[in-house]
Amino acid sequence: MSDPRDHLCLALDTADADEARRMADLVGDSIQWHKVGSALAVQGGESLIKDLKEAGKKVFLDYKFHDIDQTVANAVSGAIRLGVDLLTVHAVVPVVRAAAKAKGDSATKIVAVTVLTSMDESDLEAEGWHEGAAALVRSRAQNAINAGADGVVASAQEAKMLRDLLNPSAFIVTPGIRPAGGEAQDQKRISTPASAISDGSNLLVVGRPILQAQNPRDAANSILEEISSALHY
Ligand code: C5P
Repeated sequence: MSDPRDHLCLALDTADADEARRMADLVGDSIQWHKVGSALAVQGGESLIKDLKEAGKKVFLDYKFHDIDQTVANAVSGAIRLGVDLLTVHAVVPVVRAAAKAKGDSATKIVAVTVLTSMDESDLEAEGWHEGAAALVRSRAQNAINAGADGVVASAQEAKMLRDLLNPSAFIVTPGIRPAGGEAQDQKRISTPASAISDGSNLLVVGRPILQAQNPRDAANSILEEISSALHY
């Protein structure tokens, strides 16, 4: 059975890089994967990433690139030079193609964000999409993989459908994870750690349930236990 820590990523959604460093210290060995998001990009993210890499951690760069081909290619090349292990682009075919081309044979994985887990059917309706989140996730995911993405980001509610749809090597990343009984906050398509793993998610992204816990390390450990209970490989 694999190490549950390979399947849990802490979203370092903190006010700045120093607070992120304190949080990374606090959770210690319980967390191997750290996610650095766009808020930290403008608040010390680059030096934080270097420190995390030096400490032997895996870094998920969640800047969700979405731009013209050349700009995406430059951003992806820069991220790879920083040594990140995983990065996000939006699931838009030319964007994914440009990212995959810039990645070349680097080991960094490129995952495509399908539909944010903070959006539900009514948000999509308001944007003119009437077939539901799952159908949109499905078509964006298939197109992104065909365009060269290593995997996709979606809610765990779509993980099973994606696991059946995509080839077994596709890396499925799922935010919107809430321990049983946890508060949803602004997330709308949520799942528990155990069901996300059972449905085939490779990496669970968890922020506030750990960041805002009285004891973040204990909160991480109890999520790791939930992950362990569902791991069969
Ligand atoms: O605090 P919480 O566990 O809701 O944090 C989830 C993290 O995952 C946030 O950093 C958010 O930006 C990110 N994310 C998401 N939905 C996506 C992609 C990323 O919630 N589809």
